[in-house]
Amino acid sequence: MVIAIDGPAGAGKSTVARGVAERLGFTYLDSGAMYRAAALAAMGRGDRSVAEVADELDIQLGERVLVNGTDVTAALRSPTVSEAASKIATDQAVRQALVRKQKALLENGDWVAEGRDIGTVVKPDAELKIFLTASPEERARRRAAELGSDWRTVLKDQAIRDQTDSEREHSPLRAAPDSIELDSTGRPAEDVITQIVSLVRKVANAR
Ligand code: DC
Repeated sequence: MVIAIDGPAGAGKSTVARGVAERLGFTYLDSGAMYRAAALAAMGRGDRSVAEVADELDIQLGERVLVNGTDVTAALRSPTVSEAASKIATDQAVRQALVRKQKALLENGDWVAEGRDIGTVVKPDAELKIFLTASPEERARRRAAELGSDWRTVLKDQAIRDQTDSEREHSPLRAAPDSIELDSTGRPAEDVITQIVSLVRKVANAR
């Protein structure tokens, strides 16, 4: 069974997806970490296209993210990598390489997969699709708290990333027509997690 959780940066996807996976004993897939890892691995590799680097990426996802055996967990969260990831995510060849890896992972087992296009492209037949949103201000405050930076600066960068993510030609950020839209503004993560877990139980009982 696959639960797809898509939405913009800072909507709470990671916390919620991790929490749902933990409560249900499913495996968590952070597809954004793959875009970040490809962006990081491609830095200083002017000799190769980003798509080639992405295709050959040896990435291990989990509590720590390992790329070619190196722990890059902290590096992936830097603003430089965030910006680079948003840029390379507009490249169709890069997306194809990473979507292929994601599809292969989701073929077997029970997963909670988060990203931008899980319900629309990676797993359109996911049993449950959630589109998680929050107000731009709340999303910026959450990111700023994580990064230890000023939320107004984050808000500005976020607006640019939102625009890139939702206006790009290939797989723009969109809610799947059959997704359930949840707004996490002002709600504790535990609350949203409980709501999704009960939606999953409903879907599972109806099968
Ligand atoms: O969720 P995140 O902030 O870690 O994602 C990093 C970047 O990767 C973000 O700019 C959007 C992009 N991304 C994407 O295009 N498709 C996905 N499934 C996941 C992330």
